[in-house]
Amino acid sequence: MKIIVTRIIPDRGLNMLRGAFGDASVVVTRQDGPIPRPELLKIVGGADALLPMLTDRIDDELLDAAGPQLKIVANNAVGYDNIDVPAAQRHGVIVTNTPGVLTETTADMAWTLMMAAARRVGEGERFLRGGKWTCWSPMQLLGMDIHGATLGIFGMGRIGQAMARRAAGFGMKVIYTDSFRMAEGAEKSLNVTYVEKAALLCESDFISCHCPLTQETKHAFSTAEFAAMKSTAVFVNTSRGPVVDEAALAEALKAGKIFAAGIDVFEQEPKVHPALLECENAVLIPHLGSASVETRSRMAAIAAQNIVACLRGEAPPNVVQG
Ligand code: DGY
Repeated sequence: MKIIVTRIIPDRGLNMLRGAFGDASVVVTRQDGPIPRPELLKIVGGADALLPMLTDRIDDELLDAAGPQLKIVANNAVGYDNIDVPAAQRHGVIVTNTPGVLTETTADMAWTLMMAAARRVGEGERFLRGGKWTCWSPMQLLGMDIHGATLGIFGMGRIGQAMARRAAGFGMKVIYTDSFRMAEGAEKSLNVTYVEKAALLCESDFISCHCPLTQETKHAFSTAEFAAMKSTAVFVNTSRGPVVDEAALAEALKAGKIFAAGIDVFEQEPKVHPALLECENAVLIPHLGSASVETRSRMAAIAAQNIVACLRGEAPPNVVQG
């Protein structure tokens, strides 16, 4: 067997693969940093399984380079917008992802960003470390209250629902929009109300994005959306960068069209729009939504489990249909 893992992942995943197929079968191409495309195209030849990261593009060219031996692409992420799923299907290759395990950890991070942006934690820290704090002041770095506010959730999948559960503890009103409305019972038990996008924009004090990246959600937040929000609103994105028009977000932050933003994902990672970097009222972190020790370990284990099942001729548990 030849199993290509494009970056070092936690031991739990690697040990599963090595235990099932032997040390020599598992090739880890990089300790850190993405493998350059030409190198990946070369090394993937004759592979039975590929365990890529969201930074690796999996398309016709790569599937051709892999050859007919390839049976599975087990993405080390829940999102799979880096994979051309129809192309994989044409090549007879199964695609899997890592759903479920990162839900709570990603919601924790969205919540962290929401609070940090609302209460100006980044600005405060820079202020203090910069030696600018001379005295407590009644007017210094005033932010927005989270408790009792209205949270608008854009995309009510697993992570959106985890956000709604957290909001209950803060006495927030929760509204949401999605292409699918939840069943009435589910809405009731989560204490959430469905609204159209236009209402979500103008009624929310906080908006948190939890949709997948699709043709429909690309730039779902641009100039018009930021203009429709409250000037006191805080915007959070832990989904995928291209859901947000970064230039428009920077403009809205600078012009005071919204109060602040907490952003984990970017349009052209690892590049960040220079105008966004200039915004003091933006909390910016490098795609850390699922980055806890336990969750990254569980993601690696799930990706490995999908490969083990597939190469043993069993159905992998997390097949995506595209
Ligand atoms: C995912 O799994 O899609 C995340 O973005 C990676 O943390």
